[in-house]
Amino acid sequence: MNTRDIASRLSAEQEHNDGNVQSHWNRVVGRRSFLKGVGLAGAAVLPGGGLLASQAAAGTASKLTEGDVAILRFLAAVELIESDLWQQYNELGGVNGGNSSYMAALSNLDGDMPQYITDNTEDEISHAAFLNEYLQSKGAQPVDLDVFRTLPGSKATGAQQIGRLTNLQALDVDTSYYTRYRSSQSPDFGATFPQAVTINNQPAIPLNDKDTPPNTEQPNPPTTAHAKRMQAIANTAGFHFGYIEQGGSSLYSVMALKASSLETLLIAVSIGGVETNHFSLWHDKAGNAVAQPLAGVVDPVTKLKFPDLNAKPFPAEEFQTNLILPEPTQFISKNLPACSVVRPTLDENGGAVATINSFVADQLFKGQSEQFFSKVMGLARAADAAKRQV
Ligand SMILES: [Fe+2]
Ligand SMILES: [Fe+2]
Repeated sequence: MNTRDIASRLSAEQEHNDGNVQSHWNRVVGRRSFLKGVGLAGAAVLPGGGLLASQAAAGTASKLTEGDVAILRFLAAVELIESDLWQQYNELGGVNGGNSSYMAALSNLDGDMPQYITDNTEDEISHAAFLNEYLQSKGAQPVDLDVFRTLPGSKATGAQQIGRLTNLQALDVDTSYYTRYRSSQSPDFGATFPQAVTINNQPAIPLNDKDTPPNTEQPNPPTTAHAKRMQAIANTAGFHFGYIEQGGSSLYSVMALKASSLETLLIAVSIGGVETNHFSLWHDKAGNAVAQPLAGVVDPVTKLKFPDLNAKPFPAEEFQTNLILPEPTQFISKNLPACSVVRPTLDENGGAVATINSFVADQLFKGQSEQFFSKVMGLARAADAAKRQV
């Protein structure tokens, strides 16, 4: 075979493999109906072998630094975790969700909530699938957390009875992001922020049909005990969505600073931008749980209360529900003018280990094994240790 034949065969192979990747990509993210009935394990199947072989043959595969691999592997793990929790929300409350009362309670926050939940879920699955395939295309190990899908999920109508990575049934949601993004003080300069709502040991998804019958009417505001319970669960979810996505916004900013290759940097800023986009949306919707006409819901079981944050005694600058765009804040130096930015962006506040510690405090991993913690913490420490090399 002469050089020209080899070149044309390699190019045909590349085309074939690109076609495979493209059709896989279409299967993963191209169809809005794809999520219904498809488990995450199926979504994360990686066909990268052919791509690897042709890239190696063509000499186009460039090696990632150890640090870039660590960054991308940790981000892949976080995206698998995000996908798992969003999938639970999507099964029950997404646009094809199976629990009409939960969907109605979420829709009291905004009529488009089920659609947004489904789209956010699809985004997370695309992030996880992309990162793992990118790692493989560079000859690096993808991340697989399937062995840890052991936690029981919701027993309510609509939930698949499959093992989960994350637990949404007894969350301690840190809602201080709400006041942090309304403040001109930065956590990276030591500032701390009050909770918007104190949410401890509260479910964010319906637990079972006895606790919240799936066909309960959900007027706005709710009137019956079952409707109030379901509304409190949906409101908790609304605040949890914002908590998760603000974490992603900070994490990707922190990781971007450690990237060595331009592609790793591109991945970090491009996915990170979408995490921030998600955060902004959820920040807005959570505010509707604590504004009229919905404000004032009290969970009859846990006594959790969602007050009206637009009324006294809440100071407007920290709590007003339509102040969702970030307030300019301290950035890099207190001597520089305030700047409207993602915050925090210091390792200790928003890096990989900080993210896992925050998820632990959120009770997101309640019931997970020691092996799971050591796996994700190992990935987190390696990512935080990555140093930019140029
Ligand atoms: Fe994501
Ligand atoms: Fe996210």
